[in-house]
Amino acid sequence: MSKLLIKNIKTLVQVRDEAPEKVCGKDMAVLPCIENAWLAIDSGLIADYGSMDDFPGITDWKGLDVIDATDRIILPCYADSHTHIVYAGNREGEFVDRINGLSYEEVAKRGGGIINSVQLLRNTSEEELFQQSLIRFNEIIKLGTGAVEIKSGYGLSLEAELKILRVIKRIKELNVIPVKATFLGAHAIPPEFKGNKEGYIDVLINEMIPAIDKEKLADYIDVFCEKDYFTAAETEKILAAGKKHGLVGKVHAEQLSHSNGIQTAVKCEAISVDHLEYCNDEDINALLKSKTMPTVLPGAAFFLSLPLPPARKMIAAGLPVAFASDYNPGSSPSGNMNFIMSLGCIQYKLTPEEVINATTINSAYAMNMGHKVGSITRGKLANFILTKKINSYGFIPYSFSNNHIENVFINGEIFK
Ligand code: NIG
Ligand code: FE
Repeated sequence: MSKLLIKNIKTLVQVRDEAPEKVCGKDMAVLPCIENAWLAIDSGLIADYGSMDDFPGITDWKGLDVIDATDRIILPCYADSHTHIVYAGNREGEFVDRINGLSYEEVAKRGGGIINSVQLLRNTSEEELFQQSLIRFNEIIKLGTGAVEIKSGYGLSLEAELKILRVIKRIKELNVIPVKATFLGAHAIPPEFKGNKEGYIDVLINEMIPAIDKEKLADYIDVFCEKDYFTAAETEKILAAGKKHGLVGKVHAEQLSHSNGIQTAVKCEAISVDHLEYCNDEDINALLKSKTMPTVLPGAAFFLSLPLPPARKMIAAGLPVAFASDYNPGSSPSGNMNFIMSLGCIQYKLTPEEVINATTINSAYAMNMGHKVGSITRGKLANFILTKKINSYGFIPYSFSNNHIENVFINGEIFK
């Protein structure tokens, strides 16, 4: 791998000599930067950086590539800690049903929703699923994502869940960006277990989890803790079963109603708890005593017109907040983290500094990847975004839905 030097960088963003594992409360408003900077990459890693005013004598490197970044900004790639990008087909039909007045819950009750994607996925071969998912994987990297978590959960049978997790493994083994895999068998109750949720949980715990452990197909286990899906008690039981097989917990919580998912996630020492539309003061207090990362998914709240999670209140209380895309066919059919930052600023009233911390360091924490990505730090992966000519990093969330990226660098090379 060649050595690369980028010089005359207008602003080098999120530079941390020693990166904190997460950024909490008022520290989220602090975004360390170097103006008029240089950045050196060696063997796919960040080797060094500094100000052009004290540019060191490294020009004698053999085979050194040099890029001039005048008027352009560099920031670390986004860490997208919550996606469901391995799915089959799409759900534009339900989109129109919702436009015509049905709620997300009503669509699901009619057999649409997650179960619609389950039927599509079960009828898709592993190879075809891989090809469809690979398109989305490449698409999110082009939009600046440099590490990603991917969930199963559209299979809901041993065979179909293994199919998804094997596709995630194949994506992981491409060794493009770091990938974490999450088993979300508890995403919904499959049609063949209608009226027999106990029976499904039994299969999930006694057949699916051991089989997944045997092939080492997952890092995390997740549950959709929600009315008509899984209760807090069931969530606890499933997370405990996963823990016995080395799977760390994550929870989809308080999205459509208050279901005690946050309290359960904290009790089970989940690494993150995600959605949080119905998060209350008691939940905030519980989170303050935990290591669980509260993760807001602005794309899903936007797409389903849900009440906004209290991100500002969480930060005021001293909590960290992460933002992720939730890229999935039903509630957030986009993995554009630039737009997630815009929503963070426009709807949640976070500053550009806060949303950058939420989509880099804090979201990296939410999938235990802070040692590899999330900041410009010596030794971390050289996964970063080089912008087009823009005046400030705040222009990215401000000028929403426009593409301000000139190139995304992955392992120190331009991603094509
Ligand atoms: O994260 N909330 C549950 N699961 C997904 C949506 C799944 C779907 O509608 O396909 C989410 O929003
Ligand atoms: Fe989700």
